Amino acid sequence: MTTKNVNRVALIGAGSVGSSYAFAMLNQAVTEEFVIIDLNEGKAMGDAMDLNHGKVFAPNPTKTWYGQYDDCKDADIVCICAGANQKPGETRLDLVKKNLSIFHTIVTNVMASGFNGIFLVATNPVDILTYATWKFSGLPKERVIGSGTILDSGRFRYMLGEYFEVAPSNIHATIIGEHGDTELPVWSHATVGGVPVLEMMKQRPDYKLEDLDEIFTNVRDAAYHIIEKKGATYYGIAMGLTRITKAILNNENSIMTVSAYLDGEYNTEDVYIGVPAVINRNGIRNVVEVSLNAEETEQFNYSARVLKDILEQNFE
Ligand code: LAC
Repeated sequence: MTTKNVNRVALIGAGSVGSSYAFAMLNQAVTEEFVIIDLNEGKAMGDAMDLNHGKVFAPNPTKTWYGQYDDCKDADIVCICAGANQKPGETRLDLVKKNLSIFHTIVTNVMASGFNGIFLVATNPVDILTYATWKFSGLPKERVIGSGTILDSGRFRYMLGEYFEVAPSNIHATIIGEHGDTELPVWSHATVGGVPVLEMMKQRPDYKLEDLDEIFTNVRDAAYHIIEKKGATYYGIAMGLTRITKAILNNENSIMTVSAYLDGEYNTEDVYIGVPAVINRNGIRNVVEVSLNAEETEQFNYSARVLKDILEQNFE
């Protein structure tokens, strides 16, 4: 972390997710400096120009430019959105080989600049690529964060809010595990305005328990449905990345479900996986261990196993 009076965020990858992240960051005026790095110089330069022309309409001006890896030296955060994304019918885990190779190049180039900040990883499979970023960079585990299940938890809170007809801000509910097909809902701790969801379900005859299963299925499979319709997802994840970036730069100590390294928490180790964690200026302050019931524990252990099997195949 450099001692200076302005925050700088560097984006690697100006594709749909990266460009949406840039747009969200400038509209929420999260940082003083934002640099866009991409192999496609025209796209990155065009994004910087386009965003700068809207600067006057943003709450605060963000100095934005198309840059090179050298610009990462003084960055507080490097957000990696580069890589291949899911095509219709593809799972996130299908992208492992392609994106591991891309990440080795990216992380090596960023570290060569003298970068000493925090990596924020969005590219899928995000849990595997966050682990790879940690390995390739040599940075302490707390300074490598994946978006994890922050978007899944956001979708979960939105859909529960729709169901119970309350603002999503009054829903506290999390999705943990792989950001993918093996993720799981922590129903045992889900509340609506402080009332446990399972208790709320008794308050109205039209509330049916099978509705909850349908809500979780829609959360887990949301990306597939969006990809079928528009070819990719990018706004939701970009807003989640912006939320994490704010928590870091503002030293919030906020708890959100990100992809964090487990070193014994949840009886699991040597894996990055979606869990609640406290986020502040130093990255992940600590993982928050919630007491999972027997079913949740079994599902979480399965999710961690799926990720660890892939790690064992790709990292000796
Ligand atoms: C999604 C992508 C970010 O869930 O994996 O929309």
